[in-house]
Amino acid sequence: MADYADIKIDVRRAKSTAVGGANGVTPAELEEIAPRVSGMHKILRDERTSGKYGFYDLYKDDAVFNDIREKAAAFAGFENLVILGIGGSALGITALNTALNPPYYNAQPRRGRRGAPRLFVMDNIDPVTFKAMLKLCPPKKTLYNVISKSGETAETITQLMILVDLLEKTVGAGEIKRHLVVTTSPKGPNAPKSLLHPVADAYNLVSFSIPLNVGGRFSVFSPVGMFPAALLGMDLEAMRAGCAAMDARCSLDSLEDNPAYLRAAFHYLLDTRKGKTMSVMMPYADGLRDVADWYSQLWAESLGKQKDLDGRDVFAGQTPVGALGATDQHSQVQLYREGPNNKVFNLLEVARFEATLKIPDTLKIVPGLDYLRGKSMNKLMAAELQGTADALKASDRPVIRVTLPRLNAHSVSQLLYMLEVETAMAGRLHNVNTFNQPGVEEGKQIARRLMGGNG
Ligand code: PA5
Repeated sequence: MADYADIKIDVRRAKSTAVGGANGVTPAELEEIAPRVSGMHKILRDERTSGKYGFYDLYKDDAVFNDIREKAAAFAGFENLVILGIGGSALGITALNTALNPPYYNAQPRRGRRGAPRLFVMDNIDPVTFKAMLKLCPPKKTLYNVISKSGETAETITQLMILVDLLEKTVGAGEIKRHLVVTTSPKGPNAPKSLLHPVADAYNLVSFSIPLNVGGRFSVFSPVGMFPAALLGMDLEAMRAGCAAMDARCSLDSLEDNPAYLRAAFHYLLDTRKGKTMSVMMPYADGLRDVADWYSQLWAESLGKQKDLDGRDVFAGQTPVGALGATDQHSQVQLYREGPNNKVFNLLEVARFEATLKIPDTLKIVPGLDYLRGKSMNKLMAAELQGTADALKASDRPVIRVTLPRLNAHSVSQLLYMLEVETAMAGRLHNVNTFNQPGVEEGKQIARRLMGGNG
């Protein structure tokens, strides 16, 4: 039986008792914010129940998961899976792949990949990268999944145009349906038109729907993330169980016992009262490095808002920063300890790595290495993390620790689900619209006009 324990949150070192009243949350501030959190909980619960925001319940949808599994089985056997998508359409599966597949996944032999395809996530329009992917992934051996909720994103549509042209010339128009799957908004009288609908119709493509009430950055547990995850052989049921376990905790009207609310309240108070305008997400596990990227988009795009819900200029939002322990101890930690005290640090750790590596009893000619001999790389990683946490405390920098019992589908899903609910609560505390992105939309339209479109 897999280890399905809960992830743990430790905010003690983000409190005034650890880092002083100027840098940490005081008991009075916690007491003051608790009723606000409770009030916001009721609003969020009503929004969930009314179906305004659908990300909470994605994991529950048996019909969608069955459909995903069936279609994934029908498309099994490809050597490569290429995702065409950007932002919320790309970052979720990238994070899952790094967390749940073996390191250097694409370089693994097929056996090391459990027979699943290699994964290429094309989330940019750099012609050098795209051409390199086309060369590495010949159409006959490749399944492409174009993902765009709006179906209008110029970057993704451009990739698709290049690809369809190539497919027509190689496998032929009639065979495109065996190589290209579409994930976009559903068709319907009240749904916005996606440019991917006519493409899917013309080539008779298999399609998945992204529910209208689920935004791109909240879509990892929809077919956006789950269809590629199924193709990659990930344990969807463990993911759903991880979401359910975290959903139960995140449904509590309690600041203490709801990890998402606790983290949201701490981040909000640290940002608005203690000047911690940056949130560093620093996992001490290579597998979680892309979770930091996924979190960065979620936090930045959801909370970075000029106007609040009452139309006032607030210029809200904490700048998220991704870092990696122990690597970035040799790059960023100098700044983190001695530079501006304007950050809260989220140290992510894995209690038990899937591998153990002993440091051999060797190089005895160097007595100075005695402290390493006979220990393990695992122990060194834990010591590095503790060292950073203690050093940050000594400089009065607030730290929140998140511990995953193991790195598996269950724990990673708990983590992502918690961060989503946390973002929803943080948006409420900031009194901003968490779920829109007017700043991004404007940039998209300007670029389109520059290309000669109608904006
Ligand atoms: O979170 C969001 O809504 C955005 O980051 C989108 O995911 C991103 O802009 C891509 O949009 P689309 O899926 O419509 O192509």
